[in-house]
Amino acid sequence: MHFKVGLLGLGTVGAGLAEVFLRKNETIAEQIGCPISLAKVLVRDLDKPRLVDLPPSMLTTRPEDILDDPDIHIVVEALGGEEPAYTYIQRAIRNRKHIVTPNKEVIAKHGPDILDLARRYNGDVHYEASVGGGIPLIAAFKQDLVANDIRQIRAIINGTTNYILTRMDTAGLPFDAALREAQELGYAEPDPRNDVDGTDAAYKLAILAALAFQIRAAPEDIYREGITELTPADFAYARAMGYAIKLLAIGRRQGNAVELRVHPTLVPREALLARVEGAFNAVEVEGDLTGKVVFYGRGAGARPTASALLADIIDIAQDVLRRYAEHTPRLLIDPSRRRLAMADVESAYYLRLMAVDEPGVLAFVAQTLADAEVSVASIVQRIATTDGRPAEIVIVTHPTRESHAQRVIERLRASAKLLAVPRPMRVEAE
Ligand code: NAP
Ligand code: HSE
Repeated sequence: MHFKVGLLGLGTVGAGLAEVFLRKNETIAEQIGCPISLAKVLVRDLDKPRLVDLPPSMLTTRPEDILDDPDIHIVVEALGGEEPAYTYIQRAIRNRKHIVTPNKEVIAKHGPDILDLARRYNGDVHYEASVGGGIPLIAAFKQDLVANDIRQIRAIINGTTNYILTRMDTAGLPFDAALREAQELGYAEPDPRNDVDGTDAAYKLAILAALAFQIRAAPEDIYREGITELTPADFAYARAMGYAIKLLAIGRRQGNAVELRVHPTLVPREALLARVEGAFNAVEVEGDLTGKVVFYGRGAGARPTASALLADIIDIAQDVLRRYAEHTPRLLIDPSRRRLAMADVESAYYLRLMAVDEPGVLAFVAQTLADAEVSVASIVQRIATTDGRPAEIVIVTHPTRESHAQRVIERLRASAKLLAVPRPMRVEAE
């Protein structure tokens, strides 16, 4: 078997997928267990400059070249918007193709119907990238959380608005300038009004609500307020009172009723959700069995979205092979990979030294570090006292090889100038 993929759209998401698809083709084929290739890509304009270099023969402006081609097994719809995306998806399913889509509008409005149609045609529809970009979220709801009664979801699920709010809060940027940045970075929807008025977050909440609360909620029925009316004064007052402002999507079950709403919300600054910055997303889910779990990661952008789309493509291809070719995917082990010896690991170090309070001690410590090629990032010495207590020197190093750090620790411990070197600790960067 050789899988062929047709791609609809070559914008931020489509081009990101095509680029990774070509670059990682061999690894993807190995994951699946048979060859796979990108066969055709639908665009509107063949002459438009693209973010990825594809052979001209791969591009087409005729949707039928993909939707009706019997050799194409999987169609990735990355056009965005309701139409013609919905019509194309239905046509592809009827032509026995499996579907992968990052299009939250289509899934929020027509997800259950699309899945019913696919079931009739024995096809798969995957939409991992539609919520949370690269965060594995839909699969987690479908599989890992499935035994839970979900009580509540509180989520930052629009990267563009979170980016804008972060820039307005921390850099004092005006709304328009922050939005322009988000557009340049490829986070915003083709029509960015959908981001800033909360529509995109409402689509995503509708998708999550179906999975979490088994409710079919029309996105237009979800209560929604956007961020366009927020002013610098709101950020200043919120900050003064210990809050951050976040566009939250909230779903909460109360018996058989489910509240669903999207609006700017004041969140205590020390809360995890308040510390989600830039285009990052976070989804906090409270299940009756798991308690609270949090999914966090990049919610927008070409590469995170490509990650989710490729995962869906691989999943479908493995499933097809399992069903029709009695092929069970194995765990891929690359024999050329080796475990790195601990002595070769690199890490920054925290060293607390109890030193004799006399001239030359600091110089000795500095020389010992220099001899082992360990560089100091910061150093603090407690003000010396007259009560005979040892001086205390605390050093944080730049990342250094474990063998070098151990050489330093050994030499310091062996020296009479130092009374003790209590347990050193490794330091991880943020
Ligand atoms: P985009 O940059 O505007 O790209 C859309 C692409 O589809 C463009 O190449 C466009 O052609 C093509 N297209 C649109 N209508 C078409 C038609 N009728 N016939 C042929 N081609 C058509 O949008 P995007 O950011 O890639 O978003 C695509 C989808 O992914 C949306 O559903 C979005 O919500 C979703 N998504 C986006 C992100 C993100 O970070 N951007 C993340 C997750 C999910 P032209 O190039 O000729 O205009
Ligand atoms: N426009 C969307 C966002 C893209 O900013 O989150 C990812 O779905």
